[in-house]
Amino acid sequence: MDQKFKDAISNNKKTLLKLIWKHPSKAWKTILGKGADSLYTTMSHADDPKYKQLDQPLWLNFGYWNKPSTYDEACQALALKLGEHLELDIDDTLLDVGFGFGEQDILWKREFNVKSIHGLNITPLHVEIAQMRVQMSGLNNSIHLQEGDATSMPFNHNSFTKVSALECAFHFNTRKKFLKEAFRVLKPGGRIGLTDCFPRKDRKKDFWYWFVLKSMSIPYVNMISENEYIHLFEDIGFTNVEIHKITDKVFTGMAAYFKKIKEGIPKDEVKVDLYSENVRIEDWWSGRGWYMGLDEYAIVTANKPK
Ligand SMILES: C[S@@+](CC[C@H](N)C(=O)[O-])C[C@H]1O[C@@H](n2cnc3c(N)ncnc32)[C@H](O)[C@@H]1O
Repeated sequence: MDQKFKDAISNNKKTLLKLIWKHPSKAWKTILGKGADSLYTTMSHADDPKYKQLDQPLWLNFGYWNKPSTYDEACQALALKLGEHLELDIDDTLLDVGFGFGEQDILWKREFNVKSIHGLNITPLHVEIAQMRVQMSGLNNSIHLQEGDATSMPFNHNSFTKVSALECAFHFNTRKKFLKEAFRVLKPGGRIGLTDCFPRKDRKKDFWYWFVLKSMSIPYVNMISENEYIHLFEDIGFTNVEIHKITDKVFTGMAAYFKKIKEGIPKDEVKVDLYSENVRIEDWWSGRGWYMGLDEYAIVTANKPK
């Protein structure tokens, strides 16, 4: 770890300390914790005119920056990657949890022509807007989105051929409960696919880590190593657990994206060509990633035995 990186982390801690000192009631609220639904409701604006415009995508992920892309293109590329790893096809009855504003469901229906999609999301505003957009796209016969918690699913055993969780499982309280539920509702021979995060090997599990996770509504118990993660799946009964790390294409891309925003380029005009940008993964790890508690990014798939 180079000195520049160490200095950046130590500056981050000082900045947080100052903020806690200046805003003790906010810090206290963070420590007491809030759910992911409250985090995402605060991040949204109920009367955003974009909600009613289908040509304005409403992605909420970090994106896959494999070629020169805007934020929306990168987010779509990530969703398509997950769809491919999940081997989505015309015979699938899919359960999609944490669907955000439903972008991926509309995309997967169009790209892979899956038979049906049911969705569960804990944030009422996301559900309301996503339902409206599915209706507007004319896909409401095959996409059914509802409010609910991925850790307690209102579905019968053996209901779906596939389960997906695009960049949301780290929020679940807990991820383990979700995986048990996913295993229960999957048909024998079914497949689960997630994009998800791990801590990097040298991430210190100290007060600061706990604090930033709290502020991002990420339960501390979910931040386990890659090895523990594989065991978690296997203990539940999943087989063929595969972890495909894409940190370099996701978080390095986001570091480049935020660098351009900082330079003053308006969000909608930012285009990132990762191969010509002067950014390293350490820029993410010592910058925004540090504050979010998110270091490594992967596509994970596993099967329920037949
Ligand atoms: C980072 S966003 C990802 C949204 C979407 N998958 C995308 O890529 O645009 C996380 C989503 O997970 C949802 N979520 C968080 N906790 C949840 C839970 N326990 N059950 C269901 N959804 C949850 C949030 O409401 C939010 O829509």
